[in-house]
Amino acid sequence: MAQHPNTKAIRIQTPRTDQMEHSTPLFLTSSFCFDNAEEMRAAFAEENDANIYSRFSNPNVQEFIDKICALEGAEDGFATASGMSAIFGCFMAFLNSGDHLLSCGSVFGSTHTIITKYLHRWDIQYDYADIHNPDSWEALIKPNTRLIYIETPTNPGLDIVDMEWLGKLAKKHDIILIVDNCFATPILQKPIEFGADLVLHSATKWLDGQGRVLGGIVVGKKALIRELYVFCRNTGPSLSPFNAWILSKSLETLDVRMQRHCDNAEQLLKALEGHPKINWIRYPFHPSHPMYEIAKKQMTRGGGLITFDLKGGLESGRKFLDALRMLSLTSNLGDSRSIASHPASTTHSKLTREEQESVSITPGLIRISVGLEQVDDIIEDILQALEKC
Ligand SMILES: Cc1ncc(COP(=O)(O)O)c(C=O)c1O
Repeated sequence: MAQHPNTKAIRIQTPRTDQMEHSTPLFLTSSFCFDNAEEMRAAFAEENDANIYSRFSNPNVQEFIDKICALEGAEDGFATASGMSAIFGCFMAFLNSGDHLLSCGSVFGSTHTIITKYLHRWDIQYDYADIHNPDSWEALIKPNTRLIYIETPTNPGLDIVDMEWLGKLAKKHDIILIVDNCFATPILQKPIEFGADLVLHSATKWLDGQGRVLGGIVVGKKALIRELYVFCRNTGPSLSPFNAWILSKSLETLDVRMQRHCDNAEQLLKALEGHPKINWIRYPFHPSHPMYEIAKKQMTRGGGLITFDLKGGLESGRKFLDALRMLSLTSNLGDSRSIASHPASTTHSKLTREEQESVSITPGLIRISVGLEQVDDIIEDILQALEKC
């Protein structure tokens, strides 16, 4: 019987050395040795899988890649130093001068910056479709559209894109579909099953799960990963072996962690429902979510992020953050420790009101990354902070 992907995320390991270690050793080495000139020639000619140099490949990095491939159901992968280097690497590997990228405004801030401020340097055009209007996507496809790039659920708006529908659209027009699966993780959502050609992650978030290291990864079709590999092997955004070791060990607990993050998020949702200081709550698996049915179709659970809109807008948002006693105020997410953020006064403060609205950010929007603490403590802290704003 084939092993379950969650078992593979625990059991895949670099071949045991003659030290007979149980846990994977750390291969902190820049380069690898050869016994003779012929072996070295063959490695450079890519006649075998021998490691040459850690910018190209490394056993710890490969172990992390193999686990994510197992979890995502992917043929191959390449791991990078951060989520942003995975995203930028994909844009540079797959877009040529004169090509067109189709995405939508509801993407992570730095992704939006690359698309809007840098791609034109290489004469790459882009259009943003309206995430709330499926018809707008096909209308924006051009003969030179080479990539469709989305996040689902989006950061921080928790908007959902129907991947099955978009996958069919991309296939019909022979366009590469890339999905940033950072918010759901492969435990809750496997975009390749819905038609994505490539799936990428900021491994910095839930995959690490304890806010320790930066990392990124792209997995998917072998031929595309080969193109990405050649670009990255030469340009150098590779993941460090140490970070790969941390991330690979983290994957051993990804499933249990994600289940507990979801349990805690569901409990918090119940405690916040109908609260007099809150206009609305958003969670992919809450029936009030506008894309609830689609979330149910493509995700197994709703994830560890909840957003809500405070009555009193911007000022209430600031007061809420100041009143928190336990939750951390930090710009990361996907940690074992719960985190609160207020996008309108921090990460998204440079956007105009209209731009904020188009990506589902209201002045009173609070994003909670629900951690693994005893849920009563999370709820108590948030309820007492709500009293003060
Ligand atoms: C959805 C999403 N994609 C990509 C990134 C970028 O990842 P990194 O910070 O690892 O470069 C982030 C970071 O917050 C994110 O939330």
